[in-house]
Amino acid sequence: MICDVMCIVGARPNFMKIAPIIEAFRQYRDMRAPLVHTGQHYDRAMRDVMFEQLGIPEPDVDLGVGSGTHAVQTAEIMKRFEPVLDERRPDAVLLVGDVNSTIACALVAAKKDIPVIHVEAGLRSYDRRMPEEINRVLTDQISTLLFTTERGAHANLEREGIDAARIHFVGNVMIDSLRANLSRAVLPEEVFPDAPLTRGYALVTMHRPSNVDDPEILRSMLTVLSRISGELPIIFPVHPRTQNRIDELGLRALIESPRIRLTRPLGYLEMLGAMARARVVLTDSGGIQEETTALGVPCLTLRENTERPITVEQGTNTVVGTQPAVIWREFENTLRTGGKAGRTPELWDGRAAPRIVEAIRDWMRLERRENNQAVNAR
Ligand code: UD1
Repeated sequence: MICDVMCIVGARPNFMKIAPIIEAFRQYRDMRAPLVHTGQHYDRAMRDVMFEQLGIPEPDVDLGVGSGTHAVQTAEIMKRFEPVLDERRPDAVLLVGDVNSTIACALVAAKKDIPVIHVEAGLRSYDRRMPEEINRVLTDQISTLLFTTERGAHANLEREGIDAARIHFVGNVMIDSLRANLSRAVLPEEVFPDAPLTRGYALVTMHRPSNVDDPEILRSMLTVLSRISGELPIIFPVHPRTQNRIDELGLRALIESPRIRLTRPLGYLEMLGAMARARVVLTDSGGIQEETTALGVPCLTLRENTERPITVEQGTNTVVGTQPAVIWREFENTLRTGGKAGRTPELWDGRAAPRIVEAIRDWMRLERRENNQAVNAR
């Protein structure tokens, strides 16, 4: 009997997580993984390039929701996803990460009694001002199967009353993608042949609303980046949200310098190459904290907290907050010492996706046996 696990993607950080999962499903003839893209991210750089480079098949369904406020975006995804579920009735819906597409599709599926499978469950920043934290907590609450990337996530979930039998520690699917693609990474000297990168550079990414939506915080972040560029040239791929804010607030002059290479968002392979060669990465992204740990590259996280503590405890990550003096001190410290060495966390071995698919198969078999027994007993 064929088993349909409908996979959902919406935003850029979902794509590198779903790619190895779809590949792992392909290894089984009795499993199908139809793909739904909500359309939360839609620009060529944010969507098409990622699909192409990661070998993700074109989605079976594209909901085409686009941008909006949290309420509008989440509601629109739910409205458009519901008829898709009604028509296709998959055996389960699989979601990755913590974006609005994740919670929106989880809610629709759970209310239709379709089991929800959450990959990257149990991460907690314990900061409810972060929209992703709300998405994480709520998605986990309504998930049937929960796959975790680090052991600490298990304790977070149990504290929230989730049955341990439903939680599986499998490792990190994003690192599956990293390992599979590292040899194809495009190096920064190929992307920016005229940039002064030969003696090292810092890679910067920044897009969290807490950093870019507040004019004063954004201004002070850009000012410290300008100071940093005096020591080390910077590559700064600018997220559309950040670009919009910089333009609206007229702050571009703060970072206009031959030592700061501003670019549109990079493709997956270009970003891998840029991370792998960086002396230091400064970021407020969640995924980049993990990717730099896997690459052994020092990472300074421009946030007050992280939902990925293993990158600090075992990896190369230091949470430096948003105070310019502290960012500068930690940057200098990293240059002087070479930064944290770190080690690769348990099960970040490139095999997380096959573990997930195997666990789903085992669970499906058990479910079907129990259903059959229930029918026979009637
Ligand atoms: C979303 C995720 C965040 C993730 C980030 C990665 C939520 C709540 N947030 O934030 O967790 O780290 O994606 O990129 O889901 N825009 C474009 N082109 C696009 C997509 C967006 O120009 O393809 C612009 C629009 O002006 C939009 C803004 O970026 O309003 C923000 O996009 P949105 O998806 O709402 O949130 P992100 O900040 O990207």
